[in-house]
Amino acid sequence: MSRLDSVIRRLTAQRAGLNWAAEQLGDAPGDVLELGLGNGRTYDHLRSLMPNRRIWVIDRNLNCHPACVPSADEFLQGDADAMLIKLSEGGPRLSLAHYDLGTGVKEADREISKVLSPLLAKSMRPGGVIVADQPLFGFEQLPEPSEIPEGRYMFYRQLQT
Ligand SMILES: C[S@@+](CC[C@H](N)C(=O)[O-])C[C@H]1O[C@@H](n2cnc3c(N)ncnc32)[C@H](O)[C@@H]1O
Repeated sequence: MSRLDSVIRRLTAQRAGLNWAAEQLGDAPGDVLELGLGNGRTYDHLRSLMPNRRIWVIDRNLNCHPACVPSADEFLQGDADAMLIKLSEGGPRLSLAHYDLGTGVKEADREISKVLSPLLAKSMRPGGVIVADQPLFGFEQLPEPSEIPEGRYMFYRQLQT
């Protein structure tokens, strides 16, 4: 597979996963979190899918496309661990989170997701859905939607507590 094919497959899986998650949510209450703004592509997709939901955004940098700049009151700029703690001060408000912090260095990404998973869990509503580019810890893992190849993107649900 060429690198172009690989990028296309990754982005296609990402879009299908976000579409699936928004459908799962339906009318259930709760906010959304984009964890890893980057260029703003998936943030833009999330807000097009759910224009009436509050979408929190965490990134240490603001380097996105000018059309995808989050509003100042919903953008938590800083390291993900500190910003997740800050977000959790508002209680478990999220019904959907997109975790997209991967660097491509598998072991390092895994160590980070081990630290961040319990911090993210504090903001998730019971039954909330998480779509992730990395394996996460402490959530119920869900099967991939049928159109997504196994292991390419990961799906989780916050345990009912
Ligand atoms: C893969 S990019 C996100 C791509 C984005 N979702 C998009 O569709 O354009 C990862 C982003 O996560 C941010 N990031 C990575 N690790 C982070 C950390 N520990 N704390 C805060 N931001 C982090 C990087 O600055 C980068 O912008």
